[in-house]
Amino acid sequence: MEQNVSTTNGIITFNMMAAMCHNNRGIGYQGDLPWPKLKADFEYYLKTTSTHKKDSSLMIVHVHGRKSWAGCTDFQASYGGVYHIVCSQSRDPSIKTHPNLLTVAGSVPEALEYIADLNRNGKLDSVWIMGGAGIYQECLSHPLCGRIYLTHVYKDFPSDTFFPPFDDDFREKRRHFRYLSRRRRYFFRI
Ligand SMILES: NC(=O)c1ccc[n+]([C@@H]2O[C@H](COP(=O)([O-])OP(=O)(O)OC[C@H]3O[C@@H](n4cnc5c(N)ncnc54)[C@H](OP(=O)(O)O)[C@@H]3O)[C@@H](O)[C@H]2O)c1
Repeated sequence: MEQNVSTTNGIITFNMMAAMCHNNRGIGYQGDLPWPKLKADFEYYLKTTSTHKKDSSLMIVHVHGRKSWAGCTDFQASYGGVYHIVCSQSRDPSIKTHPNLLTVAGSVPEALEYIADLNRNGKLDSVWIMGGAGIYQECLSHPLCGRIYLTHVYKDFPSDTFFPPFDDDFREKRRHFRYLSRRRRYFFRI
């Protein structure tokens, strides 16, 4: 999905990466994904969000809510040498440390201001919003929100966290493959 926006004040547009149950819009359950691991989607997620456009000395930055960051494995956090910003109003001292964690931001605007500084200094490759729900909600209506990369899972797993509805400013740009999950009980589409 793509929204037409322009780059302003040195702040580049950001993209969002998410996967949701097609009908109930579930994205999370008890701190994890609602569904058992989908290998093809996981590989797609890593490749899409963690590959440099040109120069690997530039930074790819992922923005996470505190709980999503807690569920991010070391493998994911380190993959492709990406860097991370965690949003937390409480700035909870138990937030997981990582060599590639740039900062804990008290708000999404604070995270974007940090990112704008990186961009003004010519250090930035791309920016990905990685969820969860509150971060997605705020970023969906942000003027710098570019694309949503949204996997649809065609089975409604029990969920306690949901992808917010988004408006008609977004139009579908491209539809990738349709996969059958390993257990052959449901499809998912990237
Ligand atoms: N399917 C997917 O694509 C996907 C992607 C990401 C996550 N998930 C799943 O979603 C669940 C986690 O998402 P969640 O929505 O429950 O939690 P979350 O957004 O990851 O984390 C919530 C915490 O982040 C901080 N936060 C959120 N919005 C903020 C804002 N606007 N400004 C400052 N801080 C903010 C707050 O931390 P403080 O309390 O410290 O202030 C809040 O308590 C997990 O189950 C995870 O597996 C799924």
